[in-house]
Amino acid sequence: DWNMPDYVTEAVARIREQVGNDEVILGLSGGVDSSVAAALIHKAIGDKLTCVFVDHGLLRLNEGKQVMEVLHENLGVNIVHVNAEAKFMGELEGVADPEAKRKIIGREFVEVFQEEAGKRKDAKWLAQGTIYPDVIESAASKTGKAVAIKSHHNVGGLPETLNLQLLEPLRELFKDEVRELGIALGLPHHMVYRHPFPGPGLGVRILGAVKQEYADLLRRADAIFIEELRNTIDPETGRSWYDLTSQAFAVFLPVKSVGVMGDGRTYDYVVALRAVQTSDFMTADWAPLPYSLLAKVSGRIINEVRGINRVVYDVSSKPPATIEWE
Ligand code: XMP
Repeated sequence: DWNMPDYVTEAVARIREQVGNDEVILGLSGGVDSSVAAALIHKAIGDKLTCVFVDHGLLRLNEGKQVMEVLHENLGVNIVHVNAEAKFMGELEGVADPEAKRKIIGREFVEVFQEEAGKRKDAKWLAQGTIYPDVIESAASKTGKAVAIKSHHNVGGLPETLNLQLLEPLRELFKDEVRELGIALGLPHHMVYRHPFPGPGLGVRILGAVKQEYADLLRRADAIFIEELRNTIDPETGRSWYDLTSQAFAVFLPVKSVGVMGDGRTYDYVVALRAVQTSDFMTADWAPLPYSLLAKVSGRIINEVRGINRVVYDVSSKPPATIEWE
């Protein structure tokens, strides 16, 4: 139970005391935790903080641009934006196995980050957006209590070789507290209350081997889905379907099916829509989206995204299905 403005003042003082005049680097993913950590540390030490934003080319539509706008242009945070799309696409070429893809993305991420971090010779601290549930989770996995079904990797567990001290100002906060803190620091509501997005990004939402063409089609379909979820208000609760779901996204299926368009026949790819409701992401129910919303989304995707001619809705709950398809 704490008061947010006081908490900000205290947290800023604590960071200043901890790092003094040292330089700090932070790996920015575009997610809530690393963005809030960046805003907080920037408030404490300004230009002594440099963020490295590794863009693997598997982000959502305009996501990279939004991160730069909000954090760099509006808040004035120093950000090195590394466009590593070509490198990631090259490494992923022909790799279809989900875990192999995760490993490659994780490895490349660390490599690109290290390369940038290594250029900042004066940096003494590595900042991370670790939050309390991450601390619990990694403690549990060390004692063997949690079984990792997927090799989750986040920016966490980065470079011991860099010889940096760890700065983790969100370590004692729960997710809702991190969000409140983000708002208090001036981050926009849509960023702070965004659905979670996996570290490997669209890499695990394109089934099988990743291709640039697939990523581009998926980004456009996904953006239409999210836009309609945000714009559709449930009359009973007065809330948008984006807010009524915990996670929603499109999945690219590299399967072709037949369709008709005008007088012609099409033979194009399929997109699956996934939307779930959950409190802890360990179990999840598929979301009962209104038929009218599904109809609008499917109509728009098929009309606007040339190359997709069929849209399906995933009605599987977790377990036994997982939230992501890979
Ligand atoms: P699943 O698919 O396991 O997802 O039911 C549970 C939650 O974890 C997210 N997820 C990941 N997050 N790296 C991440 O950072 C990953 O490799 C990864 N795989 C799944 C998923 O988006 C959901 O919120």
